[in-house]
Amino acid sequence: DQVIYIGLMGAGTVGTGVLKVLLKNETSIAKKVGARLEVKRILDKDVEGISAKVAALGMDGSIVTSDINDLVLDPEIDIIVEVMGGIQTAEKFIIKALENGKSVVTANKDLIAARGKELFDVAAAHQVDLLFEASVAGGVPIIQSLKESLAGNVIHSIMGIVNGTTNFILTKMTQEKKSFDEVLALAQKLGYAEADPASDVEGYDAARKVAILASIAFNTRVTDTNVYVEGITNITDRDIAFAQELGYGIKLLGIAKEENNEIEVRVHPAMIPLNHPLSSVNDAFNAVFVEGDAIGKTMFYGAGAGELPTASAIVGDLIAAARNIQFSSRGRLGCTCFEHKRIKSIGE
Ligand code: NDP
Ligand code: HSE
Repeated sequence: DQVIYIGLMGAGTVGTGVLKVLLKNETSIAKKVGARLEVKRILDKDVEGISAKVAALGMDGSIVTSDINDLVLDPEIDIIVEVMGGIQTAEKFIIKALENGKSVVTANKDLIAARGKELFDVAAAHQVDLLFEASVAGGVPIIQSLKESLAGNVIHSIMGIVNGTTNFILTKMTQEKKSFDEVLALAQKLGYAEADPASDVEGYDAARKVAILASIAFNTRVTDTNVYVEGITNITDRDIAFAQELGYGIKLLGIAKEENNEIEVRVHPAMIPLNHPLSSVNDAFNAVFVEGDAIGKTMFYGAGAGELPTASAIVGDLIAAARNIQFSSRGRLGCTCFEHKRIKSIGE
């Protein structure tokens, strides 16, 4: 019985979802990989609390540690899942994992949007995978689709709803007349919001996701600092009511376009006609429209945040990394071949 061992960094909302999916679907995943995937160590700050949580899932609580070396220096561990969030510490830990020959799966859009290129270079140098499907649109398989399935296209534009928390807030403010603060608190309780929800409501989370999508779609480096950002904190009940009267809904949109070799990337609230498909994307659901020269227009839709949908994307990446280990083709999915393109500043 072959086993591929995993180290999990962070057992909060997403980390717990990953444990649940791996436990629930253990047998079918093992058949797909040709090896059983087993979480050998879990890193978290609150060792006692997380040990109890892990034990409640039927696992051995003693696998929880607060020492990163227990994961990255364990020669038996082949894959690290980083779902702690944050930038500096997560970057340091991921680099340490990659340098020690571990493939890494992460949901960390803050880090990938800001430092992705540097991390992909480290992964390539050590011939390991660095996969990040969960970093954009939760469970919606948009990253792999852009990287692989749509790679034959010249992509013209990407547009969509890529933040679940703000879409949840706007939906509940519109449909149930609830207050902004009340719905934000509910989004936090449901595990949709970031540790600092300002990232969601001020549009930075969406900006990071659009930067990641634009980098892949246009094969050039776009970071979060290249994105014009306006969040939903200034949207009032009256704005929503007036928009409705005129036949529109308000949505936070992320838009990335390439025209005449120039790239434009922005995030801002927009009035969407009520009969437009994006108007029916409600709650924490996300939708991304992609327009390519061969495929024409295509749309990806699904749960954009939360424990199990996000875990679905992480476990998919885990299976891809595990298969690469099985077939000795690690690093196959890396991309460090960006072209240089001009990115427009808004107002130009
Ligand atoms: P949580 O805050 O629920 O979980 C993070 C866990 O990691 C917490 O237990 C936290 O401990 C722990 N942690 C944080 N820093 C460290 C550290 N330096 N050392 C050890 N443990 C640490 O976050 P989520 O699970 O919601 O999100 C995790 C990542 O996934 C983030 O990058 C987020 O952006 C991303 N993501 C989240 C989605 C969602 O729907 N929630 C969807 C897609 C991506 P403590 O609580 O004590 O700080
Ligand atoms: N806070 C994020 C959101 C989580 O609400 O979309 C998923 O990336």
